Amino acid sequence: TWTMVNIVDEQVDHIRETVGDARVICALSGGVDSSVAAALVQRAIGEQLTCVFVDHGLLRKGERDQVVRDYVAATDVNLKVVDAREQFLGHLKGVTDPEEKRKIIGREFIRTFEAAEREILETPGTPVKFLVQGTLYPDVVESGGGEGAANIKSHHNVGGLPEDLEFSLIEPLRTLFKDEVRQVGEQLGLPPAMVWRHPFPGPGLAIRIVGAVDEQRLEIVRDADAIAREELTAAGLDRDVWQFPVVLLADVRSVGVQGDGRTYGHPVVLRPVSSEDAMTADWSRLPYELLERISTRITNEVNEVNRVVLDITSKPPGTIEWE
Ligand code: XMP
Repeated sequence: TWTMVNIVDEQVDHIRETVGDARVICALSGGVDSSVAAALVQRAIGEQLTCVFVDHGLLRKGERDQVVRDYVAATDVNLKVVDAREQFLGHLKGVTDPEEKRKIIGREFIRTFEAAEREILETPGTPVKFLVQGTLYPDVVESGGGEGAANIKSHHNVGGLPEDLEFSLIEPLRTLFKDEVRQVGEQLGLPPAMVWRHPFPGPGLAIRIVGAVDEQRLEIVRDADAIAREELTAAGLDRDVWQFPVVLLADVRSVGVQGDGRTYGHPVVLRPVSSEDAMTADWSRLPYELLERISTRITNEVNEVNRVVLDITSKPPGTIEWE
């Protein structure tokens, strides 16, 4: 729409003026906000921007490719990919407490990002002066206000950056709501799968494994999640659902039967929710046929899973994520 064209033009001019000939860096997560923010900055200053994408090994199936291949093809952005999978998994080994997982992931993310940053700083060029962040209007309100809103889980989006960062922030989405950000993303020609991606937590699949995280468990939840997303998309219901976590109860074993044999596998939980802002949510009334397809495919195709359960709790009292 014309308003989104205006926002793009306005932001592009503003970013150019602010940045001058300095270099700019951005942490790209693959989520809507950072992708759109970086694409706007890329449109404004091109080569002066370098994006860093940290693969922490906790991503869903296909997400790395989506950034490394599709996003780069759509934006032409300078991208530095850091493969930190071993590092993150090493530090997470044996950790079961959700907040501890978040702390470790937050800490390692900053470490990894800073190392990448240093490399960029050391490559010849104009000074690096700015950092792009995909802060939205609701983030500003939520972290600015503070009063009354209990900080149930530690989030890293705003204010989670180390104090000694000497960069000024560029936050081109600061006045926008999510739906407007999506429109800007479409305007900028980003891949629809990214523009319409459901929110996904920074700590990734680590908080969708109830129990300790390891490569094998990640593979289970990744496969189950891919099936659920594929079927939701095939049913044309992506935009009816806010988020659709698939959770592996890794420390629970359930008895099942397959062929002539008794199995002793793990349950996965489907947690489709509808919501406006993630503060409150309701469980999505997905069609039974869709749920059936997802359940049949998961138990057939993901070896270690022999039971699929549906979470029918609203938020409150349940949170969207299980951890
Ligand atoms: P809950 O589970 O509290 O989640 O209902 C609300 C929204 O926040 C997301 N979430 C996180 N996002 N880091 C993030 O960046 C986190 O540690 C985190 N924990 C939850 C969750 O996916 C939902 O959208």
